[in-house]
Amino acid sequence: MPGPVQRFADATALLEAALAFVTQAAKQAVAARGRFTIALAGGATPLPLYAAMAERGFGAPFETTLFFLGDERLVPVGDRRSNFGTIAPLLLTPAPIPIGNIHPMPVEIAPPELAAVTYEEEIRTAFGCPPEAIPRFDLILLGLGPDGHTASLFPDSPALAEKIRLIRAVPAPTTAEPRVGRLTFTLPLINAARQILFLAAARGKEMPLGKVLAGRPEPQIPASLVCPDDGDVAWYILDA
Ligand code: 6PG
Repeated sequence: MPGPVQRFADATALLEAALAFVTQAAKQAVAARGRFTIALAGGATPLPLYAAMAERGFGAPFETTLFFLGDERLVPVGDRRSNFGTIAPLLLTPAPIPIGNIHPMPVEIAPPELAAVTYEEEIRTAFGCPPEAIPRFDLILLGLGPDGHTASLFPDSPALAEKIRLIRAVPAPTTAEPRVGRLTFTLPLINAARQILFLAAARGKEMPLGKVLAGRPEPQIPASLVCPDDGDVAWYILDA
């Protein structure tokens, strides 16, 4: 079953609730482990949250927060379709974040499979995590696509069966835009998180939302496969 579901009538209410969620997760992480590890989602819905995190803070010092991306489009950072290129000017550049705390996916490395392995190593190094273990992010932010995708895990993708790798390179989707190859967190990495927050604007996503909230996991709706092993998942939905 999905965890707590909250619905919001306007974008401001969603933003305030999301910032409060991140703040609580960050405070808990810093109190318990002295730092906060967060994976940011791509897409448009979380962008106001990112700007607010830079402007208003989010409960953990910038110096002790590590920022990763949960998925990336295989385009140069300067391309308008780049998740990192979109997020950086809102959150990562204006805030006083040490450069070593910012972990964009290495889209410049070819082939994409090598980029995936490289990012996996970067995560393991940052977490001090041995090869056989799966690191636990304090918070992973996710979105939902109209086809049911989350991160860059698309309907019926072979990547959904991944059990070992943390990061996979996946081909351009046929059910979502932009149609470019991607790098993505895998389900084992996502489901190891301490907390997961989905931010989803409902318009155009009624079908996957209905299926996810019905609580039946199915590979046609990858978001329905997000089910933390030992963590919490929340859904914040914008109804407007
Ligand atoms: C991406 C994503 C993707 C996104 C959803 C929702 O890079 O495309 O990370 O999973 O979160 O498509 O996007 P919106 O917030 O724009 O609806």
